[in-house]
Amino acid sequence: MKWNQRNSDLLMVSVETQILKGKPVADAIKAKLSHEVEVLATQNIIPGLAAILVGDDPASQVYVRSKQKVFEKINCYSETFRLSAETTEAKLLELISSLNVNPKFHGILLQLPLPSYIDSQKVLLAISPEKDVDGFHPINVGYLLSGEPHFIPCTPNGVMKILKHYDIPVSGKHTVIVGRSNIVGKPMFALLVQKFEKGNATVTICHTGTPDIKVHTKQADIIIAAAGIPNLITGDMISEGVDIIDVGINRVNDDSERGYHLTGDVNFDSVLGIANSITPVPGGVGPMTITMLLSNTIQSAKNFI
Ligand code: GUN
Repeated sequence: MKWNQRNSDLLMVSVETQILKGKPVADAIKAKLSHEVEVLATQNIIPGLAAILVGDDPASQVYVRSKQKVFEKINCYSETFRLSAETTEAKLLELISSLNVNPKFHGILLQLPLPSYIDSQKVLLAISPEKDVDGFHPINVGYLLSGEPHFIPCTPNGVMKILKHYDIPVSGKHTVIVGRSNIVGKPMFALLVQKFEKGNATVTICHTGTPDIKVHTKQADIIIAAAGIPNLITGDMISEGVDIIDVGINRVNDDSERGYHLTGDVNFDSVLGIANSITPVPGGVGPMTITMLLSNTIQSAKNFI
């Protein structure tokens, strides 16, 4: 027995919480992908990604830069197309049409969010489903939901790889997803509910329409926190032994030189000693997203052979 002194009401706890780091999982996958890139190179194929960035959202700029770096490190090609925040929908559609037929690119990634005057759904629909390495095109959403995925959205796929790597039991378990975004919450449901090797779970999705999230998180064997709200899940909302995947990467302003720090959707300190395991932020799910993007782009390059 131990005491979690950081909890305001001094909880008695008995669990040594395991920290599920993403880097070892990402490194193992990247080692395999690196070999696949070498094989493709012998056939003069270099997997190529076109990343489109509209506007100057600081977080999106960081993501796109990191994507470019990781692609180059593994000898893949990545080019970023930067459009101003005033770009018209027509210009964006024109760019996508040209990338759809450009053989240099096997994947097209449209960094979200887009400026509010652009209809995201309409633009995502214009990306060729064969190059939709984000898995956001309605055709690929449909394939995933029907249990025969072509491209699996990167962050949810990364979460599944973490569950597999750390041997967290999923089949028959009650998984509670907090957040219903198209990027994480909904595809996460579509993966966990399938009769896949890692899947076959009972899945609950909580969202802003859920009157009391705690009622559900208390019953969870696994919590996937993907609401984009810092510290939403606290120690008093969970039961002992739960496995927690924290997908949130929230910028919280502070007095540091950088002006902010990153925080997950889970109040990390308050769940220590209660949860069986948790992914840290940063360093948990984060490193997985780009790795799975790399994986989808390499898969796409092979599909084009
Ligand atoms: N914005 C936040 N996450 C993502 C992602 O996985 N893909 C894209 N395209 N945009 C995002």
